[in-house]
Amino acid sequence: MRTLIKNGTLVTASDTTRADLLVEGERISLVGTDLTPLVGKVDRTIDATGRYVIPGGIDAHTHLDMPFGGSKSADDFESGTIAAACGGTTTVVDFAIQPQGGGLRDGLYAWHQKAEGKAAIDYAFHMIVREVSKSALSEMDALVKEEGVSSFKLFTAYPGVFMVDDAAIFRAMQKTGENGGMICMHAENGPVIDVLIEQALARGETAPVYHAVTRPARLEGEATNRVLALAEVAHVPVYIVHLSAAEALAEVREARDRGVLAFAETCPQYLFLSHEDYFDKSHDGLGGAKYVMSPPLRHKGNEEHLWRGLALDDLQCIATDHCPFCMKDQKELGRGNFAKIPNGAPGIETRLMLTFDGGVRTGRISLNRWVQLMSTAPAKLFGLYPRKGTLAVGADADIVIWNPERETTLAAKTLHMKVDYNPYEGRKVKGAADVVMSRGKVVVDHGAFVGKAGDGRFQKRGELRQK
Ligand code: URP
Ligand code: ZN
Ligand code: ZN
Repeated sequence: MRTLIKNGTLVTASDTTRADLLVEGERISLVGTDLTPLVGKVDRTIDATGRYVIPGGIDAHTHLDMPFGGSKSADDFESGTIAAACGGTTTVVDFAIQPQGGGLRDGLYAWHQKAEGKAAIDYAFHMIVREVSKSALSEMDALVKEEGVSSFKLFTAYPGVFMVDDAAIFRAMQKTGENGGMICMHAENGPVIDVLIEQALARGETAPVYHAVTRPARLEGEATNRVLALAEVAHVPVYIVHLSAAEALAEVREARDRGVLAFAETCPQYLFLSHEDYFDKSHDGLGGAKYVMSPPLRHKGNEEHLWRGLALDDLQCIATDHCPFCMKDQKELGRGNFAKIPNGAPGIETRLMLTFDGGVRTGRISLNRWVQLMSTAPAKLFGLYPRKGTLAVGADADIVIWNPERETTLAAKTLHMKVDYNPYEGRKVKGAADVVMSRGKVVVDHGAFVGKAGDGRFQKRGELRQK
């Protein structure tokens, strides 16, 4: 199959050029001006006049089909990746979880089973390590060398569920420093948060807003400082996931200025929502539960720091932390006790739309920086580049034809995520994916999904080189 994309504006992390692009099979085979007379017969021509041609989005943080908080995230690999594709994302990096009392490979193989035959776009895995035993440590080497999984997430939060102590984190960091992988950290002070939760509940403070009150930004800053120090001593690259607060950002900035291999992502929810959303009185007063995630939404003002961090490269990625739970039967579990609300929110489909509209169109970030944040930086950080993350000869033809003028009103009913609310319900955004190609195959056309569940392929990643 040969597809010519012509008359578009090609946008990569570094360049914006008027050029055509030829796709042969699964790869990009030619990029140049006015290719029509040069390429001979093609099977399909896509006229991208007036639109941007960008590398497919890479969402480095998703939780599909994940058991959590007594529930299971509402999107599986089929619905979640279809939604991702409709929003212009062509690769997700999901989190496989080490089962309690089990090995890393047990968790990894379970996640392969969840994804195989279901994923509509390509996918890779990070590994959540929740028990840093001797065998887990040696499995970490095997995951990097043999299984194509070279990033490990550890938690300083959720005691009794995912949290491991500083010594365990440090051991896992040392191991990862040796084997060429990356440590991803959920940085919040879990034990102190648990004290605050217990005290709040004892005072009868049970509404969703207390989820945020009991997880102060200072405790994200503290944990971020701590894990950066541990990573510095362990000589390992570290990536702070879902960074939400100015305090935490300041720690990352300082560490980077000291020369620490520190990286961080933020998420659209921290850029476009705020603490005030916890006072949503819909759903018989439980509306604030829509925004229960960890870290929580922060007070207005934080987002300006995050935008500046994104523009200045103190933050390298915008990922979604897509972890949707329906209001019905899931978020509702926390009526009368905010601590029982499953933590997480949907976002896999709306990441490019929100950040183009609220970032590029407002002038907060450039078009090229947007492409870098959406695709190139996560590809480089997590070992998918140059196969993915750019428009270059030989790269996978994961391509989005982005219409900067198309307006969408975000609504749970019309989006593809299988969740009964949307945090941005009613918000109008300009800019959307008209056509999406996954390894040379059109999977979204005129904004509608035309691909096939099961066509997505696992992407093995190797050792990561962050220098
Ligand atoms: O609330 C969140 N973030 N849920 C997903 C799990 C995690 O910590 O990333
Ligand atoms: Zn987390
Ligand atoms: Zn997460």
